[in-house]
Amino acid sequence: GEQSDAIVVAGGMGAAPLLYLLRTLRAAGKSVSFFYGARSASELVLRDQYCGLASVYGEATDDGSQGQHGRVTELISEEMLGKKPALYACGPEPMLRAVAQLAQEHHCRCFVSLEAHMACGVGACLGCVVPISSGEYARVCVDGPVFAAEEVFPQ
Ligand code: FES
Repeated sequence: GEQSDAIVVAGGMGAAPLLYLLRTLRAAGKSVSFFYGARSASELVLRDQYCGLASVYGEATDDGSQGQHGRVTELISEEMLGKKPALYACGPEPMLRAVAQLAQEHHCRCFVSLEAHMACGVGACLGCVVPISSGEYARVCVDGPVFAAEEVFPQ
């Protein structure tokens, strides 16, 4: 089929902030593939809304109760052949790492939204820091939560 300008990958609770991104990309005239992974069907919330906005929509669950049985990243590879879409991902860290790796392999831009336990939320407590490629640390609460994948997951 026709290839999308962007691929958005959501894992479990990580889907929530991506609805806004999906709307924004669509409003800018972009075609978007949306892939949604969770442990089971009951965790795939607002499916109709994501599905309605995406030109390609895929689901995967760990227990096989909805969509493909397995990891959501397994659905993406085919979408990445040919055109070089930008990838956006939000979800558990292993999923983000897998998406970042796929993007690297296919030479696509990739942005990941990190989940951190935030105590202060304003950059003061350093409870949310992650190491970045420069050898320094970034605060997820004020420097993120969205980072270029190569910055937080250098290959
Ligand atoms: Fe305190 Fe980020 S939550 S510095």
